[in-house]
Amino acid sequence: MIDVGLLAYKISPRLSDWALRKRYRAIQPYSDVAFSELPSKDMQIKIGRHSTSFSVINLRHTSLYKHSVEIGSYTQIASDLEIWLSSGHTPKYVSNNMSGLFVKGSHVEHALRHYKKYKDENYGSIKIGNDVWIGMDVIIRGNANIGDGAVVAARSFVRESVPPYAVVGGSPAKLLKWRFDKKTRDSLCRIKWWNWSDEKIAEHIDEFYDPKAFVRRYDRR
Ligand SMILES: CC(C)(COP(=O)(O)OP(=O)(O)OC[C@H]1O[C@@H](n2cnc3c(N)ncnc32)[C@H](O)[C@@H]1OP(=O)(O)O)[C@@H](O)C(=O)NCCC(=O)NCCS
Repeated sequence: MIDVGLLAYKISPRLSDWALRKRYRAIQPYSDVAFSELPSKDMQIKIGRHSTSFSVINLRHTSLYKHSVEIGSYTQIASDLEIWLSSGHTPKYVSNNMSGLFVKGSHVEHALRHYKKYKDENYGSIKIGNDVWIGMDVIIRGNANIGDGAVVAARSFVRESVPPYAVVGGSPAKLLKWRFDKKTRDSLCRIKWWNWSDEKIAEHIDEFYDPKAFVRRYDRR
């Protein structure tokens, strides 16, 4: 049978969101998350189970470095998330213009000539944990990892790592509150219910509505 997503990908240099989604569903059937490009040897992408992204996640980076993106299980991402794995521009040099318009050679040649300095602007990788909720229209800079159970408020710009079960928001994103008290947070981090089987989660789903009772029952330290 013809894989229509793969066909569209091969025909069109600009992948439609539809084709990307279809492709990701084929290679990652246990989640519904899609990125603006497919995994490759320079762009490692790992997605856990039952995670969703409302729209295709835009990855921005230079092609000079290897990158890795990891999303855990049960994470839900609203529309228009951007992940910046390289800054693209930097205010450190004489000019902001990194397009190579005024230097001889391409942007890549220019950047390679200044490789060591330019490497500072490369964020490389990002890890978004399990059971994370990312609101709509968020930008996350690479290396700003998002801990398990965290919430990122709508329209935030995240430049620092977010601890597990924190609710952060704003530009730049700051801690707004914690989802639970420390004892409950620590227990949930130990329980790691997202590693349970689908059957076990389905069987105990009613208990998810009472966090205190849940951790009392399942945190067996
Ligand atoms: C983060 C969020 C979950 C907080 O909701 P909440 O628990 O009801 O919290 P509140 O509205 O009481 O706000 C708590 C604090 O966070 C601040 N805050 C809420 N949303 C914020 C945002 N998007 N950016 C910055 N600060 C925000 C509030 O100003 C408040 O600050 P204060 O305590 O100093 O007054 C919610 O505002 C949000 O952004 N949800 C995402 C919605 C979304 O994108 N849905 C898409 C479909 S899934």
